Amino acid sequence: MQSQDTDFALKNFIVLEGIDGSGTSTQMRFIEAAFKEKGLAHMVTAEPTGRPEGQLIRKILQGELDADPGTVAHLFASDRHQHLYGKAGIVEALESGKLVVCDRYVLSSLAYQGSTCGRDLPEYLNARFPAPGLTIFFKIDPEHSLQRLSSRSKLEIYEKMHMQKLVDIAYETTIAQKRSRGWKIETVNAEKPIDQVRQEVFTIIEAYTGFTIA
Ligand code: TMP
Repeated sequence: MQSQDTDFALKNFIVLEGIDGSGTSTQMRFIEAAFKEKGLAHMVTAEPTGRPEGQLIRKILQGELDADPGTVAHLFASDRHQHLYGKAGIVEALESGKLVVCDRYVLSSLAYQGSTCGRDLPEYLNARFPAPGLTIFFKIDPEHSLQRLSSRSKLEIYEKMHMQKLVDIAYETTIAQKRSRGWKIETVNAEKPIDQVRQEVFTIIEAYTGFTIA
């Protein structure tokens, strides 16, 4: 029986997390290509989503719309709820036997919104979402990750040094907390060359799923 001190986890639901510029989207593409090549049934996805809720969030992130930090926390939670439980969502994909890999999930809200509107609201809004079966955290110094983003013509509202440093600290606290509630969270050194990071990520995914993907 599941202990009350341990959160319920969705098997085969894998989440990538990290500050902006940590390389989660790049690694996501490698994972997707490997799953395709091995013929593994899968869904790759991301938050904020491309659904209406996510599109509204993206406008806020791009500075086109102004919103109170508390509103943003609610919007991310709405987008997540629909993403999990809506039609063609995460739960449906898992129930049909797919591996699901998602770029960002609950930890992003706890780290980012925890840094903009305090921890209470994002904790409350995210308390009932299930844990992923596996989370891979991409650890990188904010100085380095922001350098990676410096070639972009336009940065989003959180892509500033002050914010990234706060989020980096918030991730550490959040990860320690979630691990103590039974979340399986593996950390990779995202400072390493992309190919080495890819190998590390593949090894973690292979150990978790039991499938060879390299
Ligand atoms: P990305 O698509 O480049 O990862 O950008 C998404 C941005 O949204 C990134 O700065 C992290 C942020 N974010 C939150 O603040 N809270 C969340 O719950 C999620 C999923 C993302």
